[in-house]
Amino acid sequence: MPVNTIIEPFRIKSVEPIRWTTRGQREQLLEAAHYNLFLLPAEDVLIDLLTDSGTGAMSTRQWAAVMEGDESYAGSRSFDHFKSSIQEIFGYKHVIPAHQGRAAERILFGVACKKGDIVPNNTHFDTTRANLEFIGAEAVDLVIEEGKHAASPHPFKGNMDVSALESLIRRVGRERIPLVMITVTNNSGGGQPVSMENVRRVSAVCKRHHIPLYFDACRFAENAWFIKLREGNYENKTPKVIAQEMFRYGDGCTMSAKKDGMANIGGFLCTNDDVLAQQEKNLLILSEGYPTYGGLAGRDLEAIAVGVQEALEEDYLRYRITSTAYLGNHIARHGVPIVQPPGGHAIYLDARAFLPHIPPGQFPGVALACELYLEGGIRSVEIGTLMFAQAAKMDLVRLAIPRRVYTQSHIDYVVEVILEVWNHREKISGMRLSYQAPFLRHFTAHLRPLAATAAAS
Ligand SMILES: Cc1ncc(COP(=O)(O)O)c(C=O)c1O
Repeated sequence: MPVNTIIEPFRIKSVEPIRWTTRGQREQLLEAAHYNLFLLPAEDVLIDLLTDSGTGAMSTRQWAAVMEGDESYAGSRSFDHFKSSIQEIFGYKHVIPAHQGRAAERILFGVACKKGDIVPNNTHFDTTRANLEFIGAEAVDLVIEEGKHAASPHPFKGNMDVSALESLIRRVGRERIPLVMITVTNNSGGGQPVSMENVRRVSAVCKRHHIPLYFDACRFAENAWFIKLREGNYENKTPKVIAQEMFRYGDGCTMSAKKDGMANIGGFLCTNDDVLAQQEKNLLILSEGYPTYGGLAGRDLEAIAVGVQEALEEDYLRYRITSTAYLGNHIARHGVPIVQPPGGHAIYLDARAFLPHIPPGQFPGVALACELYLEGGIRSVEIGTLMFAQAAKMDLVRLAIPRRVYTQSHIDYVVEVILEVWNHREKISGMRLSYQAPFLRHFTAHLRPLAATAAAS
């Protein structure tokens, strides 16, 4: 075998069966789920690419650490492991555990933001936007122009537009901007990375205006790997050293440990601000729990303490980013439109280009995601008009790859199914919304294919 061939850097010790369904069964299941893939029973999905969040496989070292969990209510030893592992990488003074990323966001925004405030980000994730809007603040996306166009090639399409940030501050005034956020990698913009140079420039603007800079750090390790691959001067640095440098430009972060924490649940909030940290801990006690467990069991804290370190291992990151790119490059070679270049944790199909006969108002992303399920039992997620309504700049279908879960032959199967759908794309019809919740509507919405509606009427 050539030495430069990249293979899964692990062997499998425990397996979980997956279940085949027939096309007829999938048609019935989809109708019963109101054409919303979130509403499908997971056991009726063959390959589940709905999310990379909390769906990863833990390592033997993580499972061993789980057995070390100290379940004491206060002052647990597991919290010390958690805190010191996180501080080694992130470098922030206060580490506050939470049950997942959105809880960390809610606590940060609940303390630092108020009605009428404005929070810039490269692109807000849906829960980040919803948590800000819930308290009456405005979430503003300032990703660079290249980041808004699926096909445009740029090594760091997640970068923030620094001049747009400066003009926003000038226009609305520093007092209305309690913090600036950068999401690494930029999930809602195609899993695209942010360069160290961009972080440095955003940080300089924030410092000049005395505005704190926070990272939405969910995929910090994947972002560090892209910096190593694509940004001059970093090729000889380890992902950990790169991540440490990046976090030094900020004042804190929110984190979902369900991504690059390599855990099935968990999150945290970090800050260097003593006053803010005290207020955050007070709020934490109200909803999440005591500050040495924050909604998590001691065993979860242990799994995360090991997981954040494993996420930075070079063999793992090399395989992870290569296998995601393998899927993207394969389908792109056959003409399937994807967000280019392939992202870190996911491949994003450009549903508007895939289904040009379906206008955004008829949810081309939902139509495509449903067809992938019908064709091959693959579950994906729409990131577009259903998720963001009018704020959607693109209609994408995200195929998120769970960490260390699927093998190359699973991915080859996904390629086959996508190409089959690509070949009959003209036959796919748009969707009509029949129920929506007042916020985060994509989780619970009900839809109908327009072809079925027309046939029935
Ligand atoms: C960029 C980003 N921020 C925040 C979150 C929220 O994290 P959680 O699902 O743990 O609440 C996610 C989850 O997918 C995310 O991708």
